[in-house]
Amino acid sequence: MARRRQLYEGKAKILFEGPEPGTLVQYFKDDASAGNGMKKGVITGKGVLNNRISEYLMLKLHDIGIPTHFVRRLNMREQLIREVEIIPLEVVVRNIAAGSIAKRLGIPEGTRLPRSILEYYYKNDSLNDPMVSEEHITAFGWAAAQDLDDITALALRTNDFLTGIFLGVGIQLVDFKLEFGRLWEGEEMRIVLADEISPDNCRLWDAKTSERLDKDRFRRDLGKVEEAYQEVARRLGILPEA
Ligand code: C5P
Repeated sequence: MARRRQLYEGKAKILFEGPEPGTLVQYFKDDASAGNGMKKGVITGKGVLNNRISEYLMLKLHDIGIPTHFVRRLNMREQLIREVEIIPLEVVVRNIAAGSIAKRLGIPEGTRLPRSILEYYYKNDSLNDPMVSEEHITAFGWAAAQDLDDITALALRTNDFLTGIFLGVGIQLVDFKLEFGRLWEGEEMRIVLADEISPDNCRLWDAKTSERLDKDRFRRDLGKVEEAYQEVARRLGILPEA
């Protein structure tokens, strides 16, 4: 493929100019980082797996009417996406206590939450992505009240749907992070799901054994990181049996 202009390089992905106006190419790297870049490493094959897993989940979400930026996968590591104006929020949905909520509030990891909990973080590396409230989001104009309503509704629908998909293949969706963008079509704007959905930004536990099948294997040095990502893809039916 012809060389394209690079627009942005993040910790796990690169964005290139797309072939048509209003499109971008999202490239998935094998690089992994944790703790806002404090820990760095490479998970061989991660980019290929995340590209496939995210494609699969975004298409499923599209099928039930959740708008996303995804257009189509181009090759092993790249997908075509619609160019959106990224809303500077990380939206975390939690079903089971793990990670930062367990640490911050002293809730044992693995405790089922009485109901799904939504959290918002201001996407800003130099501030370490601080948690913010809906008040902060609307007061500082990161999203209008209507946008935030749409984001919340989309995040909860995504959670319900993905919980079912993963449970169907013996995986508990413990928590995950979503990002959203504004998609402009002429004068019309809609909020769509952006970024990726993969074991990099979801906690996925085996439903029987609670074995971690996600990036916590890298964050916590549990080993067999690549194998865990492969296992998620295999269970979703997007990898041939070994
Ligand atoms: O660390 P914490 O428990 O707050 O993470 C909640 C969820 O959000 C996890 O699934 C994690 O993978 C995801 N996350 C992310 N990117 C971040 C922070 C959290 O994908 N910057």
